[in-house]
Formats: sequence, C-alpha cells, structure tokens
Amino acid sequence: MAVHAVHPKQLNMSDIRCIAISTGGGDAPGLNAVIRAAVKSAILKYKWKVIGIPDGFDGLIWPEKAFELTLKHVSGILPRGGTILGTTNRGNPFQYKTTENGKEVIRDISPDILANAAKLGIDAVITIGGDGSQTIALELFQKGMKIVGVPKTIDNDLSATEVTFGFDTALTTATDAVDKIHTTAESHHRVMVIEVMGRDAGWIALEAGIAGGAHVILIPEIPFTVQRICDYVTARESYGKHFTIVVVAEGVKLPPELKENRRSGTVGNLIGTVVAAGARKEVRVSVLGHIQRGGSPTPFDRILGTRFGVAAADAIAQGQFGKMVCLRNERIQAVDIREAIGKMKTVDPEGELVRTARAIGISFGD
Ligand code: F6P
Repeated sequence: MAVHAVHPKQLNMSDIRCIAISTGGGDAPGLNAVIRAAVKSAILKYKWKVIGIPDGFDGLIWPEKAFELTLKHVSGILPRGGTILGTTNRGNPFQYKTTENGKEVIRDISPDILANAAKLGIDAVITIGGDGSQTIALELFQKGMKIVGVPKTIDNDLSATEVTFGFDTALTTATDAVDKIHTTAESHHRVMVIEVMGRDAGWIALEAGIAGGAHVILIPEIPFTVQRICDYVTARESYGKHFTIVVVAEGVKLPPELKENRRSGTVGNLIGTVVAAGARKEVRVSVLGHIQRGGSPTPFDRILGTRFGVAAADAIAQGQFGKMVCLRNERIQAVDIREAIGKMKTVDPEGELVRTARAIGISFGD
C-alpha cells in the first residue's frame, strides 16, 4: 500500500478556492471535530471558502440545500456527538433508488452530482466516511471529482488506519455499561448478556470485555458453542461465582442451532435464551445499540478528528486527490483510497489481545 506523509510545506494552493465537506454512512463521535478542524484550517490557513453538503452525497442532488460553512457554524461543536452536516447510509449516487411511474428504479445520478458540484464552484471535496462512503468517493474521483477521504467508523475495522475516531468513545460507553451491569449481575446472581456493536469485527466487544472484566466474550472472528458458555457458567458456580458477564458483538457468527432462529431477535437475546435453559440460570440481556454511536467524543477522538481534519485540508492543498488520511505508527499519513477500501481489519484470534484475555480466564465460547 502506498503511504505518503502529508507535508504542510509542499503546498500548491493556486487552483483551490472553494472546498466542500460531506459526512456519509453511520455517524461516529468525533465527526464534528473533523468538520471543525477542516473548516478552520481551510478558512484560517488557506483562505478557502467552505461549503457544507448535507446528508452525504444526497446533498448534491439538490444543490440549493448546500450552504457556506463559516467559522460561526463550527463554533462550539467540538464536544458534540453526531454531525452538524447530517448523514445517510443509503445515498449511493451510482445506484440511486427513485420512483418513476409508480415503480422503484435504480439510476446512476453521479453526472448530476458532478454537475451540481461544479455549479456550486466546488474545487475539491473532503468525504468523511467508512468503507461504503470511501468506495463512492473513489468512483467520484475516477469521474473527475477532486476528493480527499477521512476514515470513520466506531467499529474500528478499516485496515488502512490504525484507529478511527469514534471507536474510543464507543469503547468508553460500552465499558461503562459493562461496569454498571457487573454490580447488578453480582447482586442478583444472574448471567448478564450485553450485546455491543461490531458488524464484522469484534473490537468493541473484545476491548470493552477486557476493560470491563467480562467473563465470556463472543466475537465474529471466533466461532463459539452454547455448550461451552454453559459449561463455563456452571464451572463458575462450582467455585462460588454465581454471576457471569457475557459480552457479545452483534455480528457474531451463530452456531447452526441458533442460526435458524436468527430472525426472532437480536443475537444477545438468542444467546441469553439458550444459556438460561442450558445453564439453568436466570439471564438478563441488554442491547446497547446506538447509545454507542452517540454522546460527546472522548479527548482521544476529538484530537484524532482534529488531526484528520487538518491533514485533509493539507492534502487538498498539496493536490493529493484520491487519497485518504490515516494514522500509522502514530503519524498522520495518506493512502490511496483505492488501496484502502474493501479490506477489513478484524481481530486476530491468535493475536496478543485475545491471548491476554485467555490468560486471565476469559472464555471465547470455543
Ligand atoms: O458500522 C457502524 C455501525 O454502528 C455498526 O456497528 C452497526 O451494525 C451499524 O453501524 C448500524 O447501522 P444503522 O445506524 O444503520 O442501524
């Protein structure tokens, strides 16, 4: 993968007068830090005009919805969760769903997007988003749009960057929940199942599980059986531990006997029901859901978001289009979006974190 340092000294600002910013896909705490930093840097350092595109690339279907982002717009937004620009995880301009003559049709409206961006005088665009948004960004770049990407996901599953902003906040929220559930589990001698986010990767479950002192952690990368979980709960009972905390990632791969029931509830509820029967214990289930996506970003996410926002503006100034900023060896760098997408960073089942968890007696249900 080609990695380039973003050097503020190699600036070539002559072609750029106006940039735009869009946020796409699911939101993540720290998005506003990126927007704020990019806007401040664009205006204060480069003297560019900045346009905010609302709701991902949907905002370029109706250019009248785009608006100038000023320093006033970004004042006070650093500690705020969400994105002041709005977002969507359904807006792919290359496969845009619309209704024609009462029928749903899928059309490529990317020419409209490019034309509207030109109409608004936009010279370059910063797209803040996960794998799906960066894939769209690459296609628009290939069609001529000058794009710089900023990676985002609370799941922390993008391989091109060591970490994405939003993960630390989600991890903090999930760990806080495990802590709280710990005391009630112990008081009531129950098995408590906590379902956390993580569609394809188990980072939140693994790290919140370790940080919160969970006893069982179930992640997509490690197949589990219900029997193993029940045996583990029973073993704890035998040495006087009458409660067990199970942290499960929503994307965990279910064993065949549970797969059939997949549609009848969340994975947390499915697992809770069979463990209650198998271990003959009272079980309660908490599904954390979108709580993990909200709230004020942690200092780490605010700082990373700020670094990414400034680096994205620098990348535009240097003409590094088709690139995505990233964090590697604790340094901000830029990689080709082409090389950054489609490769997930998942938990290594043999890796140091999993080995550490196993060494302190945590079960992965395997
Ligand atoms: O990818 C981030 C994520 O939060 C996943 O962990 C989760 O599965 C998904 O987004 C939820 O998306 P939505 O907001 O569309 O329900």
